[in-house]
Amino acid sequence: MALLPVRIYGDPVLRTKSEPIREVDDSHLSLALDMLETMRHEEGIGLAAVQIGRPIRMLVADVGDRAPKGAPKIFINPEIVEASGEWTFDEGCLSVPGITAEIVRPKRIRLRFTDGKGEGREEVFDELLARVLQHEIDHLNGTLFVDHLEEVERAAIWKQLLELEKESRRRAPATR
Ligand code: NI
Repeated sequence: MALLPVRIYGDPVLRTKSEPIREVDDSHLSLALDMLETMRHEEGIGLAAVQIGRPIRMLVADVGDRAPKGAPKIFINPEIVEASGEWTFDEGCLSVPGITAEIVRPKRIRLRFTDGKGEGREEVFDELLARVLQHEIDHLNGTLFVDHLEEVERAAIWKQLLELEKESRRRAPATR
């Protein structure tokens, strides 16, 4: 397994729409394991493939005790088929280090996805895991959590975002 560099705000790959995975093979599982290792190393609870520079529709999530035992950790081609409720939660993102913000999202989702064994599944998730899944699915569509903020709230963090953009350019092309 290997740790992978996480792309940060300002890196254009984070704005791309990730491509569906047509056929799940061992290379996807191996990438997912590297992503899980990277996510845990960075102390995150979710990571989308695009965040390590691979714009394909795969994400990993692990919220530990806050999900039912045996909850899946690898999600391929995830698609929200139903959403309900409303929950405000203070979100952060490994690609937007140092910034958190309260974001309102549905509390419960029904998700259609392919798991790490290549099996098609449909399951209901709620609370923290549902939150992480929605945040990561946003990544697959080129959306970041700060995009959900009102103009006034964005204004409060624009300087920090500018600094991240600079940092992202400084790192290039090493991690691009
Ligand atoms: Ni994120």
